[in-house]
Amino acid sequence: AIFPDRVNSRGLNMNIEGIRAPFFSALDKLNDKHWQASPLVGGKAVTSGTPTTVFSPQDHEQTVGKVYFADKATVEQAVGISRAAFADWRNTPVEARAQALEKLADLLEAHQADFISLCTREAGKLLQDGIDEVREAVDFCRYYANEARTLMIPRILPGYTGEHNQLLAQGRGPFVCISPWNFPLAIFLGQVSAALVTGNTVLAKPAEQTSLIAQLATTLAHQAGIPPEVLQLLPGDGATVGAALTADPRIAGVCFTGSTDTAMAINQTLAQRKGAIIPLIAETGGQNAMIVDSTALPEQVVRDVVRAAFQSAGQRCSALRVLYLQEDIAERVLEILKGAMNELSVADPALWSTDVGPVIDEGAQAGLMKHLTAIQAAGNTLIAQTPLGEGCNNGWYIQPTALEIASIGELAKEQFGPILHVVRFKAQDIGKVIDEINNTGYGLTLGIHSRNASFADDIAQRVNAGNIYINRDQIGAMVGVQPFGGQGLSGTGPKAGGPHYLTRFITEKTITNNT
Ligand code: SER
Repeated sequence: AIFPDRVNSRGLNMNIEGIRAPFFSALDKLNDKHWQASPLVGGKAVTSGTPTTVFSPQDHEQTVGKVYFADKATVEQAVGISRAAFADWRNTPVEARAQALEKLADLLEAHQADFISLCTREAGKLLQDGIDEVREAVDFCRYYANEARTLMIPRILPGYTGEHNQLLAQGRGPFVCISPWNFPLAIFLGQVSAALVTGNTVLAKPAEQTSLIAQLATTLAHQAGIPPEVLQLLPGDGATVGAALTADPRIAGVCFTGSTDTAMAINQTLAQRKGAIIPLIAETGGQNAMIVDSTALPEQVVRDVVRAAFQSAGQRCSALRVLYLQEDIAERVLEILKGAMNELSVADPALWSTDVGPVIDEGAQAGLMKHLTAIQAAGNTLIAQTPLGEGCNNGWYIQPTALEIASIGELAKEQFGPILHVVRFKAQDIGKVIDEINNTGYGLTLGIHSRNASFADDIAQRVNAGNIYINRDQIGAMVGVQPFGGQGLSGTGPKAGGPHYLTRFITEKTITNNT
């Protein structure tokens, strides 16, 4: 068997009435629920100061809850507690830590309606995205629990007669986990569960846009048996909380998912602070391309392009940004793409029929609008733009858009939204296409559509990317199936949901005893 003791969770089959009806009735009951988040430090909720009201990206007059953000003094206190709790947690048997994660996975499943509701209301995610988010978080917990059971076993190594050699894998200390809003549950818990199960204490700083989801996940982790001193939550912004945490000489590692610029800034902070030299696990953005040659099947290409570019409103680091079409097939693909984009429903993410929901906030919307204006002013042609549906007037929406450009090199930075750029290329220029993609310096996902196996294999070898998908879309990596993570400007190379991920969180000790 591929997974001896574990299978990925199944999600929900919404075609079955007996599943669909209770799902929607559970969500209905949560529509008006008012949630609260605050720092959770040493088991206490810190609710001092003025809370910030959380509004929904779908309707910026709809409140979802309130958040008390951490200040510097709270961060300072939490790091001290984390340091003090470390020795006991490191020495807790891995089996106990693994079982706590498995218990957490069960609790996540029991609370999936809460998470799906929050994913939609706080993060503007589609219902299907919310279902997938819970599944992925559950899978991370169970997968890392299983992996840790093997990784953390002390190894007895051969040596000279009379000499006993032992290799121990241990936690490093207080680990800072800084997670993004686009996977507010899955990436938040993916980082946290990996750090915890390997024996680190955790200071979790979720994206400030999605603190409510992080609060619920943290509370359930405590219920599952993770001591409150071992996992502490510090909601807040990067400038206050993130900067204070990463500059602290007492921390032992940082796991960060977010923008390339922030990863670079964290790297500088770590380099300049006093204290141990510690690892940075960074998973950042991409300038992800798909290459389509003339042997590809246009209908399949369009199906996969639409999903990869527009699902989750393009707010996945894996999402397709630049579609390279060989010129012989370009017109046909673009004609079908226009039709498909015309069919997309851009609407309230709480409706099952919605294909594209809002982007996360006002700043994201403004940045994407600015890009659309600039790129059209530069003379690039609009291919298609999906009109907004009903009920979008009060939300941070962007029309799904496809534009033609000359080369990926025209794009200064990643545009984190439902915007697809299309480049036509001649068959003989494939080497140039590969160079252009590699020259961006990013290396996260790459899609290839071709029925010519040697063409696809050759491109897969030559393009620098962490995750390459042939004849399918390039989003939705599955835990234990497609270990996920990029290279170059896209990150330091860890593969979340892969067999080597946990090694980034440990330190190793060799003990040689000449008895
Ligand atoms: N892991 C996500 C995906 O594969 C990306 O962030 O789509």
